Amino acid sequence: MKKKKTVSTKKGHTLWKKAKQIIPGGNQLLSKRSEMFLPNGWPSYYSKAKGVEVWDLDGNKFIDMSIMGVGSSLLGYSDPDVNKAVKKAIDNGVVSTLNAPEEVELAEMLCKIHPWAKMVRYARSGGEALAIAIRIARAFSGKDKIAFCGYHGWSDWYLSTNLSDDKNLDGHLLPGLEPRGVPRGLKGTMFPFHYNKISELEDIVEKYGKEIGVIVLEPMKGEEPKDDFLKKVRALADKTGAVLVFDEVTIGWKMTFGGAHLLYGVNPDIAVFAKAISNGFAMATIIGTREVMQAAQTTFISSTNWTERLGPVAALATLKKMKRLNVAKKLQDVGVKVKKIWNRQAIKHGLLITIGGLSPLSNFIFKYGDRHQALKTLFIQEMLQRGFLASNMVFVSYAHTDAILNKYEKAVDEVFKILKSALDTNTVEKRLKGPVAHTGFARLN
Ligand SMILES: Cc1ncc(COP(=O)(O)O)c(C=O)c1O
Repeated sequence: MKKKKTVSTKKGHTLWKKAKQIIPGGNQLLSKRSEMFLPNGWPSYYSKAKGVEVWDLDGNKFIDMSIMGVGSSLLGYSDPDVNKAVKKAIDNGVVSTLNAPEEVELAEMLCKIHPWAKMVRYARSGGEALAIAIRIARAFSGKDKIAFCGYHGWSDWYLSTNLSDDKNLDGHLLPGLEPRGVPRGLKGTMFPFHYNKISELEDIVEKYGKEIGVIVLEPMKGEEPKDDFLKKVRALADKTGAVLVFDEVTIGWKMTFGGAHLLYGVNPDIAVFAKAISNGFAMATIIGTREVMQAAQTTFISSTNWTERLGPVAALATLKKMKRLNVAKKLQDVGVKVKKIWNRQAIKHGLLITIGGLSPLSNFIFKYGDRHQALKTLFIQEMLQRGFLASNMVFVSYAHTDAILNKYEKAVDEVFKILKSALDTNTVEKRLKGPVAHTGFARLN
């Protein structure tokens, strides 16, 4: 693929600069900040997105080989079948004094896919759904203390982890996060453990025993469970009487149709889904056993916009289509192909990389110590010039066809060659047109 005229992102960059003056942080999601990709050069805004193609404000069209709307669109952007269902719902009214019947149909579908679950509540984003799950779990157990692993949103309950030690969230969210604005009264309620490190959870249980009311984690986090990790977590939850919550916000629907926990035969008491469940429309679900979910009737959990119609309608259309197309299987295949491309091209150009992550959420690290971030920035800069929104992490979708992957490989070939030459001539930083990208959530790398 030949590098054509320079891709200009001036309009997008100008708007991003303006946004930062009027919206603290520029937007509502750290992972979509332009600085996370290419400070001063990222297109920042889209005018249209379809399949894996994204049009920016400057008239450029890119292929998304990065985080695909942060894993929210497994069918590809603006899926025609989901859109059709949503448009019909818009014409019939998205809200009224009465409830949307689709809520019941979706609840039945989710309980059928996860037979251990008997009741369902809804929200509209992952973080708020986790907050609801934690409230229900605490209401049920009557205990405040939570053992957790991984990232679970922006709420007070989660960030309070760092009230005891501002290193507690290192390796789960961002290093050294200060829990400003989080009530100090929550101190001492959160206890972190790492994925596949059952001894860390055992130590927490040993120390606090039946004081632990909730154990929350992603059933798969960057890797598969080893040595019956999930079974052992379940056993510890049973031993302490803690409610076990699986956060499927990111991993759900990607490994199999339904929660990733279905692959391991370990049932939680609550599972939470968002993002991919509705292919980009705002929707989140909290599913659970009847016994635990009934606690939602003992604590006030209620919001007007959790009753709007588009979320459940989009989720029903998305789930039906994902099942019909066996999307999870295709995501595994595409992820494996993407990893092979990186591997092939790295070997071809003598570039040292480490490839990791579960196939649908693959990533690579440049094995050059603290130069990784500068190399990643140069990779993004050069891929952008070749028509790709790229990063060192790819969230794959059903719309990533072989033809798209072939184009991608050609561009990676050209860009890895440039990176190797930049390393050999010690010109990585010199070749950057702007600053090095900021580092983000540890889970994204
Ligand atoms: C595992 C997990 N839980 C919760 C969240 C928060 O979801 P949201 O960004 O929809 O609030 C995320 C988002 O990345 C996540 O990956």
